[in-house]
Amino acid sequence: MRITVCLTGNKPEPWVQGLQQALPEAEVLAWAPCQPPADYAVVWAPPQGFVDAQPGLKALFNIGAGVDALLQLAIPPAVRIVRLDDAGMSVQMAEYVCHAVIRHFREFDAYEAEARAGRWTYRAPRERADFPVGILGLGVLGGRVAQAVAQFEFPVLGWSRSRKQIDGVRCFAGEARLGDFLVGTRILVNLLPLTDATRGILNRTTLSALRRGGYLINIARGGHLVEDDLIPLLDSGHLSGALLDVFEAEPLPAGHPFWTHPKIGITPHASARTLRTESIAQIAGKIRALARGEEVAGVVDPERGY
Ligand code: NAP
Ligand code: GLV
Repeated sequence: MRITVCLTGNKPEPWVQGLQQALPEAEVLAWAPCQPPADYAVVWAPPQGFVDAQPGLKALFNIGAGVDALLQLAIPPAVRIVRLDDAGMSVQMAEYVCHAVIRHFREFDAYEAEARAGRWTYRAPRERADFPVGILGLGVLGGRVAQAVAQFEFPVLGWSRSRKQIDGVRCFAGEARLGDFLVGTRILVNLLPLTDATRGILNRTTLSALRRGGYLINIARGGHLVEDDLIPLLDSGHLSGALLDVFEAEPLPAGHPFWTHPKIGITPHASARTLRTESIAQIAGKIRALARGEEVAGVVDPERGY
């Protein structure tokens, strides 16, 4: 069995070494043109030429959860596309969102400013019931985030394509229920995959439907947000702030108005990082299962787009 590793923008060596250790029966190579074709590939943003040079490929393993970039390539239908299935990401997303929700709700930024000015001031306690948290996407990551936020006794709502049942979460499903989900939400967390159906879903209409004083946390993809629609809603006061981890262009270009807007917080696509050890263990387990003829979790449906 031959495995090839093609990671645009990442060093392949530690992945090659880790996969070789986990699968001693396989030959694991960092991809180079003219190499013999492989049975399995471990990839991040590979070029089309890489896919074209692998006629015998059984599966492509993406070292991220989102496959929007990979699905831009022409991949033969017989090749399974397998995304990372948690592999240590959901706990990171839960940390990120709970931190952001609590910081916003408890007004820790305002306390910090007061402390810097040497002032001992109290702020009036706020009602948790006035800060319902709505999660767009209740999959591997969104489901875990919804449960984590519910632990802090915030009202939690969730929206997905198919209907879910999660303790402590009011679940809505399908486009027809998006409006009901939004009007009940004040803090909106986006954990949808980027597909034809979800591109631009964070826009003037949907964000205006949130309760006044709404707060946006976008940790999925920059293409979900219509960037030009955000600042007017912040400046009008309809939205009280936004925490953005992902952007249409990454790195966020110098001079972009998001860098300096006082109500926007920015992290550099770091809300859930790929953890190499966990990811290699998961991918190696799935390669062995596929080689035995078994099915594996996390196979992408290219028609659906995730
Ligand atoms: P997932 O398990 O595939 O879950 C996707 C969720 O979105 C599912 O609940 C799905 O509904 C729902 N959904 C998809 N299309 C929908 C639509 N048109 N209408 C309503 N709901 C829809 O994905 P995941 O592992 O949770 O990851 C989610 C995304 O997070 C990734 O695609 C990636 O873009 C992003 N991400 C970002 C980072 C970062 O560092 N910023 C890291 C990892 C992932 P069903 O359950 O009904 O199918
Ligand atoms: C990161 O953005 C991922 O999709 O894993």
